[in-house]
Amino acid sequence: MKYVSRDVLETIAEKLAGLIGFTQEETARLLEVPQDTGFGDAALPCFSLAKQLKKPPQLIASQIAEAWNDAQIKADTAGGYVNFRLNRQAFTAQWVHRVNEEGFGSSQSGQGRRVIIDMSSPNIAKPFGIGHLRSTMIGNALYRLYTAAGYDAVRVNHLGDWGTQFGKQITAYQRWGDPKRLTSYTIQDCLDLYVKFHEEADHDPTLEAEARDWFRRLEQGDEEAVQLWRFFVDLSLEEFKRMYKVLGVEFDEYLGESFYNDKIGAVIQNLKDKQLLEESDGAMVVRLRENIPPCLILKSDGTTIYPARDLATAIYRRETMKGDLLLYVVGSEQSLHFTQVFEVLKRMGHTWARDCRHVAFGLMKFEGKKMSTRRGRVIFLEDVLKEAVQHALEILEHKRPDLENKAETAEAIGIGAIIFADLKNYRLNEIDFSMQDALNFDGETGPYLQYTYVRTRSLLEKEGHGAGAGDMAADPAYLAGDHTWHLLKTLHYYPDQIERAVETNDPSLLAKYLIDTAHAFNRFYANERILSELEAEKETKLLLVRATAHVLAHGMDLLGLKTPARM
Ligand code: ARG
Repeated sequence: MKYVSRDVLETIAEKLAGLIGFTQEETARLLEVPQDTGFGDAALPCFSLAKQLKKPPQLIASQIAEAWNDAQIKADTAGGYVNFRLNRQAFTAQWVHRVNEEGFGSSQSGQGRRVIIDMSSPNIAKPFGIGHLRSTMIGNALYRLYTAAGYDAVRVNHLGDWGTQFGKQITAYQRWGDPKRLTSYTIQDCLDLYVKFHEEADHDPTLEAEARDWFRRLEQGDEEAVQLWRFFVDLSLEEFKRMYKVLGVEFDEYLGESFYNDKIGAVIQNLKDKQLLEESDGAMVVRLRENIPPCLILKSDGTTIYPARDLATAIYRRETMKGDLLLYVVGSEQSLHFTQVFEVLKRMGHTWARDCRHVAFGLMKFEGKKMSTRRGRVIFLEDVLKEAVQHALEILEHKRPDLENKAETAEAIGIGAIIFADLKNYRLNEIDFSMQDALNFDGETGPYLQYTYVRTRSLLEKEGHGAGAGDMAADPAYLAGDHTWHLLKTLHYYPDQIERAVETNDPSLLAKYLIDTAHAFNRFYANERILSELEAEKETKLLLVRATAHVLAHGMDLLGLKTPARM
């Protein structure tokens, strides 16, 4: 199976290095983990060695296997491979303790390093889009993963709260808005105004000029403009926060684009001093390496735009917030933008620009439908979330009519289903979300993980082991069966998988691992005698159940899924 920890591979590499005359690191890189366990837990393909050692691979393999001498790891050969097999009793005896250690999965590998995560970052007076939903969920999972790895992680919401669209919004409100209804305005009302503005602007050219004028007034701090702007910001924030609450997501900072208004001037000055700013068709740009189009900094009317704001933002996050690593969880359609921003930072001499990462992701469609705010044809996220909870409730009514806290459990299942349907996909892939698939209790879904977790809990509670392992003792003699071995090997890999997910900023690695863990557990549950009348066997197997419960709960929490006690 693919889950063989780095520890194990290093143990093999250490011994093997002497036999083939390579360093331990080189040797570790040569080792493979066979998909088919028939070929052992780890394997050394000898084909690439043949040239250097001037011997056929089969001969190299058999010579290594012959010279290999280890009581805990056996070696045999097949073709040009050496296959290594771990002695189950020896390894399970260590692992069963390891996986039951307090806080198993968390580490301190990122200690002393601060990571700033730009996540969610919706635009004011516009509905929260699917891209923002993905950014919120991926960002939240990364925040939790980095925290579990010992980093000091900071969640920042870079609200889109500045730009010419506010001139349009204010103009539309002045023309068609109803001041008497102002207190009951919603984002939908703002959107309707915005759509109307674009419709009317097609045959009324004065509108665009008026909008530019309002934005100019806003930039100059005009009281009326600022007041209206603030009103739109507060109204949007209230709606966004309602959504964050449903999703169980919090932020450490809300620092919108407007926060950088007074910080852009210094950046522009700096670009000028370094002679990086050049004129192009009346606008000011920074030219970049070949193949990368120049980065637009100032428009021809002198107003600043998105890239200039992001330069000021990055510098602030690095110099004032002291971020060692800056992540931007933003859709892949902004790849060019971030490439340009990071390149400009480099040209300014900021060597830390190499620690800026665009954590890009693909589109998500809902049952084949895309979203568009401009035309006002929008799938409202809140509706999707509500629908998922409603479906989960129906499933529970049907499957578990006597369950207590049905509403609360349905919320955990419905929201969890949506979050997991997103996170189980490699982030750059496009997702076509299907409500039915996401809520399938037997599929690779959030509810399947939650259900498996509930199963572990009820086993433990039945045996009075709800709280902890206490003085439960393990007898490795009972851990050698195929399903047991496979489960324990998978569990033991958990900290490695968290590390890989952090290194690649990819929560799907954790999501897939949790599904594998749940599968391994369910096979163990179906095929092994757990509640044996032999006390030692029962205690030993319950230690595995307990570790499974811990890994599933810990992992689901990292992804942002709730763990109901029953369902
Ligand atoms: N508000 C932007 C949008 O909705 C996303 C902002 C991402 N963060 C950033 N620092 N540019 O497209």
